[in-house]
Amino acid sequence: METELHPQEIKLMKALPKNGERISTDNIRIFDSVTAERVAYWLSQKELVKIDEETKTLLKLTDEGRIVLENGFIEKSLLKNIPESGRIDLETLISKGIIKKNQVNIALAWLKKRGWAIFEKGERGLIITATEKGLAESESELAEEKLMKKLSESEIYLEDIPHNEKKYVDILKKRNILKTEKIKKRYISLTEKGIEILPKLTQSADTINVLTSDLIRTGEWKKRKFRHYKVDDRVEPIKIAKKHPLRQMAEKIRKIFLEMGFTEARGPLVESSFWCFDALYQPQDHPARDLADTFYMKRPKKASLPEKYIQAVREAHERGVDGSTGWGYKWCSEFAAKPVLRTHTTAVSARYLAKIKPPAKIFLIDRAFRNEAIDYKHLMEFHQVEGIVVDESVSFTDLLGMLEEFYNKLGFDRVRFRPAYFPYTEMSVEPEVWMESKKQWVELGGSGIFRPEVTKPLGINCPVLAWGLSLERPVMLLMGIDDIRTLYKNNIKWLQDSEVII
Ligand code: PHE
Repeated sequence: METELHPQEIKLMKALPKNGERISTDNIRIFDSVTAERVAYWLSQKELVKIDEETKTLLKLTDEGRIVLENGFIEKSLLKNIPESGRIDLETLISKGIIKKNQVNIALAWLKKRGWAIFEKGERGLIITATEKGLAESESELAEEKLMKKLSESEIYLEDIPHNEKKYVDILKKRNILKTEKIKKRYISLTEKGIEILPKLTQSADTINVLTSDLIRTGEWKKRKFRHYKVDDRVEPIKIAKKHPLRQMAEKIRKIFLEMGFTEARGPLVESSFWCFDALYQPQDHPARDLADTFYMKRPKKASLPEKYIQAVREAHERGVDGSTGWGYKWCSEFAAKPVLRTHTTAVSARYLAKIKPPAKIFLIDRAFRNEAIDYKHLMEFHQVEGIVVDESVSFTDLLGMLEEFYNKLGFDRVRFRPAYFPYTEMSVEPEVWMESKKQWVELGGSGIFRPEVTKPLGINCPVLAWGLSLERPVMLLMGIDDIRTLYKNNIKWLQDSEVII
């Protein structure tokens, strides 16, 4: 059914010049240009029409140009105001308001260029005398003015301006009266094949184009013909939709923790300094709390503090717990009430410690923010995989074993732990995995056992294993990405081409 066409296609073909001449898509009255182009594309696939593309230069009046069009060229109005005597001095022109001070230079330059006036020095300054040419020409319509009028009335392209008129375009452009804009134009014409079948194109009213529920219900469809679809056309295979690699990783990790009996936690992105730092025994003059590292919020001005824990946290900071010495400074509750964008998800672990009863296993995968200069390794916004195990019977070796197992499940065979320091943990370690391709150990986050200065004030009296790991890093390692920004560029081609990593 080669020549069976969609009604839109028939309509378009009939609207095209029958002799194969081309016509711009904006000039096909029965369609808007978008529809015309789409239908033309179908027809071009069937070799019934040809589409040409051309870039053209549209001439447009500037705002200034529109004002000049209305008021006329300044040199013209100047000459019109010259009295019978044929001469006038500049001062008079200005004082009469015929010309503004800032227009003087342009007006004089054009009078001279056009040979419309001559100038001499008089007692009161410059005297302007109109020439014969000036008097005659300033009365008639100038070529530039004709062009301006045309531009204001219809779309004119530079390519359609006759050669001998191009100089006026240049003049108007220089005077900032006219500007140009490149525009893509598409033209459609019938091909020979198109011209040939044009007379045979009819579609009987009987043909069903769209099957509706009415046609089915009434049985009407049985009596009529369906328009044929060409189902064997070759089309580009579509790349299927795919989850973003970060999302894939987050879902995999979520599944691992849920299977291990963990409960998923949630907490606010805008957090009090109390939960982000103080409850984690981070001293108030700790550099991580500095403006250079932490985003402080203008609003809300103050975060609310959990009354119940303030005193115990204060004592831990000032004097320690269970015989430790604390930081030995005066703790300030106002400082703890400063709202921040949480710098780590460990703030949520602190909140949960105050809320749960042991034993408990809690995790979350969520965002954290730091005031970092952005580079291939750092973003201001990133994700952490946070977790705590609160249980009488757990120890440091359980922590190492769990993390090792966790990374094995993600596909990293060799895991090691490097001693580290965090104000809130003791012991503290940083898990690392071996990258064979780089022959190098790569750090993935922090972990440890919460200190009693953290747990006791929040009412927990058993060991708490804790970790806060990068979500982006393992994705980068598995995908061989060196620049963390790649993950956030939303480059659709990269997303389509990236392998499913999990
Ligand atoms: N909060 C730490 C970080 O952001 C990681 C961490 C979490 C360390 C829990 C120890 C315990 O780097």
